[in-house]
Amino acid sequence: MTRRKYETLRSARWVAPDDLRAFGHRSRLMQMGYSPEDWQGKPMIGIINTWSDINPCHAHFRHRVEDVKRGVLQQGGFPIELPAISLAENFVKPTTMLYRNFLAMEAEELLRSHPIDGVVLMGGCDKTTPGLIMGAISMGLPFIFMPAGPMLRGNVKGKVLGSGSDSWKYWDERRAGVISEAEWLQVEAGIARSYGTCMTMGTASTMTSLTETLGLSLPGASSIPAADSNHIRMATNCGRRIVEMVWDDLTPDKILSPESFQNAMVVAMALGCSTNAVIHLIAMSRRAQLDISLDDFEAASHEVPVIANIRPCGDTYLMEDFYYAGGLPGLMSRLREKLYLPAMTVTGQTLGENIRDAEVYHDDVIRPLDKPVYHEGALAILKGNLAPDGCVIKPGSCDPKFWKHTGPALVFDDYPSMKAAVEDENLDVTADHVLVLRNVGPIGGPGMPEWGMLPIPARLVKKGVRDMLRLSDARMSGTSYGACVLHVAPEAYIGGPLALIQTGDMITLDVAQRKIQVELSDAELARRREVWQPPQPRYERGYGWMFSRHIQQANEGCDFDFLETGFGAPVPEPDIF
Ligand code: FES
Repeated sequence: MTRRKYETLRSARWVAPDDLRAFGHRSRLMQMGYSPEDWQGKPMIGIINTWSDINPCHAHFRHRVEDVKRGVLQQGGFPIELPAISLAENFVKPTTMLYRNFLAMEAEELLRSHPIDGVVLMGGCDKTTPGLIMGAISMGLPFIFMPAGPMLRGNVKGKVLGSGSDSWKYWDERRAGVISEAEWLQVEAGIARSYGTCMTMGTASTMTSLTETLGLSLPGASSIPAADSNHIRMATNCGRRIVEMVWDDLTPDKILSPESFQNAMVVAMALGCSTNAVIHLIAMSRRAQLDISLDDFEAASHEVPVIANIRPCGDTYLMEDFYYAGGLPGLMSRLREKLYLPAMTVTGQTLGENIRDAEVYHDDVIRPLDKPVYHEGALAILKGNLAPDGCVIKPGSCDPKFWKHTGPALVFDDYPSMKAAVEDENLDVTADHVLVLRNVGPIGGPGMPEWGMLPIPARLVKKGVRDMLRLSDARMSGTSYGACVLHVAPEAYIGGPLALIQTGDMITLDVAQRKIQVELSDAELARRREVWQPPQPRYERGYGWMFSRHIQQANEGCDFDFLETGFGAPVPEPDIF
């Protein structure tokens, strides 16, 4: 690998010339107390930090950034911390997904507009991972992703609690009157015991694991619990490594390939991944101009079974157990035959070299391929007259009786009316009904909120019902479970067939046949389409107005059309005058 010379670095354009503008840059660095020794001949390393006072998953980033800086300094780089929007999954409304592309745009433009030669991306809470990576891929500078790491296991009265998964479970127990308010409050205090991301195989752990599989994080990084001292050392290693990546010019186009995305889809299926993986991986691949599609996910689903016994697909373990069992390298060691091992990674070595010595230390946490948690991959892609452009279900985390099911639709046009109805003890509903929520897709949501795990109606919960077939154009939390058909495309708000169904229509799901169907003739659907009225736009100004005009559908990854790397000519480097 040829090493770059200092004069060729971007930052040298800002600080090296003997001209008035570079004088200004240097004098302003000195204003902050730096000396020429701090920057002369050194790469400037950006550290995009998604810390905020209201993001519990990134609470440690305020300190962890110093560990990254230590590594940069040790390796002869000049660290520059750049804050970016934090996107705390729990607090940002109506949904962080409304702002994933905002973060991607911010990351790309932060890098473009500043004297940055390479970057460490600090993220982990759901949308922060794809958002940061999408922007960094489009910018094309060497980067390394530092995952926040999962929080410690939850605990209440000697029982282990899993993020999200146990919130939904205990909430239903409370609605059914099985647990008291006092017990509910104990769950509230015990379910999130440390900083770090959700410790189930939710969207955060899914996306950080897939980022590592793509070769964009250090080996093993995504499985380390946030509160483990190994996490601090990993952060410092990120700082050291990015300096070398700059000198080696190890840009993302040398790491990402059709094969690395294939690896990511195979690992996603074996992990029991979040359904959100589909949207984010498609968006990331399109930034790399290596488009993957729902059909590729469907093919990967037949390649490997789910072998990570992590909740919610598994029934017992959490990310902390996964780490002790060998973590992601351990899991990949079981998939060697299914992976493209020559794929390049941020280490400068191949995936195969990175996992050469990986082992599994607990066969029930990371199962052998012949003793899987679920016999196919985590996700199934469904199509039919209700979803001509596809939708997704996670069959391994729902009651098997719904793998083939026909029932009458109970249709809701918005969340408030659904929420009121499911708490109504007189609601006319049976366990065979199919609960439908529409107008909650990318444009209709807006932002495709995680509303697809519709609550089971209260009167059924009290009778012991804990799963029903549900259907929507929304997403669901990766920590959630149940027979939820999600991401129906095209969405109802723009006139997808979901907009045409009525309460009482019969809906059929057949997972084995990958079918989702409303039992109506084409003529009847056409008749209803003629009288369908498009709803009012959600926004008439501001970011939401721009969002509504440029967001793409779920099967296309929900990126803004104009942000995709192939949209128009490449963006030039900024002029410096
Ligand atoms: Fe941040 Fe789950 S809320 S990862």
